[in-house]
Amino acid sequence: MPTPADEILFLNGEFLPLSEGRVSIEDRGFQFADGIYEVARIWNGRLFRLEPHLKRMERSAQGISLPLEYGRAEMARVCLELTERSGLQRGMIYIQVTRGAARRSHALTGEAIRPTTLAYARAVEPPSPESWEAGWKAISRLDDRWQHCDLKTIALLPNILGKMEAVRHGADEVIYHGADQTVSEGGSSNLYAVIDGTIFTHPLGPKILNGITRMAVLEFCRAEGIPCREVGRTLEEFRNAQEVFLTSTTRDAIPIVSIDGRPVADGKPGLLTRRVFHGLRDIVERETSQPTETQSPISSKRT
Ligand code: PDD
Repeated sequence: MPTPADEILFLNGEFLPLSEGRVSIEDRGFQFADGIYEVARIWNGRLFRLEPHLKRMERSAQGISLPLEYGRAEMARVCLELTERSGLQRGMIYIQVTRGAARRSHALTGEAIRPTTLAYARAVEPPSPESWEAGWKAISRLDDRWQHCDLKTIALLPNILGKMEAVRHGADEVIYHGADQTVSEGGSSNLYAVIDGTIFTHPLGPKILNGITRMAVLEFCRAEGIPCREVGRTLEEFRNAQEVFLTSTTRDAIPIVSIDGRPVADGKPGLLTRRVFHGLRDIVERETSQPTETQSPISSKRT
């Protein structure tokens, strides 16, 4: 497995060592957080559901009027090459596209600028079985992010402040809720509450990211006949739920065992959370154990 020093970066059409990657001081990603990103999972040395990630990226790009230089097929080839060359069995692909470098100006003045496109693969292990069994702690916080959380932009300062507040309280994740107390999502995850045996998660819309893992959870529940509804629930309902859990690409499904220092139910991972965790793991294993069309070997530029 390559050491971090060997990580390979795709930057604007070239493959090079990550440590040699350079972007301009006037890159709008750096100065204005004017860009978008994706995180896709590598499992068994293959990419899990890359296509929906790339579709979501296109949607995010459209949402901020950012013309992408590389189409979905080209980006897929880049991700496959990075995965292959990384030699990683488990990890992630990080993709970021910014509006590019231009003389600093809030509004662009009509000059055609080239977006900055980068991607790299990195080793990431899901939380250990011990950490899973212990469960994660969460704090709650009024959702002070912007009004388009369905777009995966790199403007993550509010999320970061929320996460740092969580860490200061000895917790792992922040639970965002609106002024009406409805829980939307986590700082970097989608959220679920089990109430009267039904799994509830916030409906799609501008308040949450359409998680690729969330889609798989809904698919699994439908296939297994587990009652699951895309209906928002309040923070109080989350606090009093039978189970609460989160999902994300890099963390599967993780039980949340306390909110603001108070245990959820008996403070232990619940049965449905466990079932969803195993269901997700089975889906990921199944889909990454066979090569698919988009996983076929490719050849392109080498460093
Ligand atoms: N984040 N909501 C937010 C705000 C997120 O940042 C993420 C994932 C999710 C879950 O989406 P998915 O299942 O597609 O990973 C929901 C990634 C992992 C990150 O920022 O690192």
